[in-house]
Amino acid sequence: MTPTTADLAENLSADELASLQLERLQWTLRHAYENVPLYRKKFAEAGVHPDDCRELGDLAKFPFTTKADLRDSYPFGMFAVPQDQIRRLHASSGTTGKPTVVGYTEDDLDTWATVMARSIHAAGGRPGHKVHVAYGYGLFTGGLGAHYGAEKLGCTVIPASGGMTTRQVQLITDFKPEIIMITPSYMLTLLDEFERQGVDPRASSLKVGIFGAEPWTEQMRSEIEERFALDAVDIYGLSEVMGPGVAQECAETKDGLHIWEDHFFPEVIDPFTDQVLPEGERGELLFTSLTKQALPIIRYRTRDLTRLLPGTARPAFRRMEKVTGRSDDLIILRGVNVFPTQIEEIVLRTDGLSPHFQLVRSTRGRLDHLTVRVEARADTTADGRTAAAALVAAGVKDGVGVSVSVEVVDPDTLERSLGKMRRVLDERS
Ligand code: DLL
Repeated sequence: MTPTTADLAENLSADELASLQLERLQWTLRHAYENVPLYRKKFAEAGVHPDDCRELGDLAKFPFTTKADLRDSYPFGMFAVPQDQIRRLHASSGTTGKPTVVGYTEDDLDTWATVMARSIHAAGGRPGHKVHVAYGYGLFTGGLGAHYGAEKLGCTVIPASGGMTTRQVQLITDFKPEIIMITPSYMLTLLDEFERQGVDPRASSLKVGIFGAEPWTEQMRSEIEERFALDAVDIYGLSEVMGPGVAQECAETKDGLHIWEDHFFPEVIDPFTDQVLPEGERGELLFTSLTKQALPIIRYRTRDLTRLLPGTARPAFRRMEKVTGRSDDLIILRGVNVFPTQIEEIVLRTDGLSPHFQLVRSTRGRLDHLTVRVEARADTTADGRTAAAALVAAGVKDGVGVSVSVEVVDPDTLERSLGKMRRVLDERS
């Protein structure tokens, strides 16, 4: 791609894209079948062969891939190329057991940088911009993924990584980046630090924030845009499929994330029946890689909940709605489904409360209980706190349909995020 313009794939017609996808899908299925014993076995068990894929809809005949498949093949069992062709490894820690390991060939790294460059461009980044990367560098894909994409676009990268928050403020103040790439929860931590140092965040050089790696709501977008005077856009990705840069929200529309479908083929299924859902219906997102060499991934179950929508700012590519949550984050409280993002919406629209909150699960008697613990803003009075707590409790009861306790605590008392935020604490006996 030429760094100065959006790359040519963004101008594909629907027919051109579909035929490119089919050709790449057929290659991927064959590549996986021929080089990964696990895929060969799973295809045989499902009674399918790569030759059975004659149109895109035929993908639905093929078996799913799950995180457990990757774990069971730890570390390199699902790699489809010899080890000397692998240029980089990343791994996600996972909360239990072995990490999930992913690998990239030189071409894979180039594809990744290309889709990331495309993402940063869609977010409003241009060659010559300075990009402050505060996603963690290391085995996590956020830092290095953002880094090489920004370089490919022709930007100047400031590889800050996560942590050392005091210094982050100084770097932003002195180096004057136009763009920041960071988790939304860590952006809130940074906001506190600006205020602690008496530096006006609205006066910073930042024009665009590219936020992802965790769910965040429209209310959070407004909060961050208002407090920093910048445009906040959403970036999505996952290490099993590539890393950041699988889908990106466009600065001009901010209406969900365009999926870079020339490299990643999306489907949405009903997670209970496993049936593919039509465009517009909400369910679990699946991805099939179309060009990946080292780790072709077929119908990967992301556990992320969203729906597919037609393209807008980039008409060639469908959008995915902002992810409302992962099926793993779902709290089932006395039979009612609660997502942390639902609580986020309510907390952020309540006067007197800061955006810092945690959900604490506990047991009262024999029943599961949920407490929303949220910080007051510095100027909230004792009466203001009581009123805010009552509003949140009523908002959750009306909007979500379940009773929760609300504790409004002092500013600066809850744990701060340095990357992906841990929203839910489990204190159940
Ligand atoms: O979080 C990759 C990434 C880095 C994306 C930086 C965006 C920015 P993993 O650590 O493998 O990879 O975690 C992937 O994070 O399945 C989602 O549950 C969640 N996630 C990622 N982006 C978003 C987003 C990176 N924009 C998992 N909105 C995914 C909601 C997101 N959830």
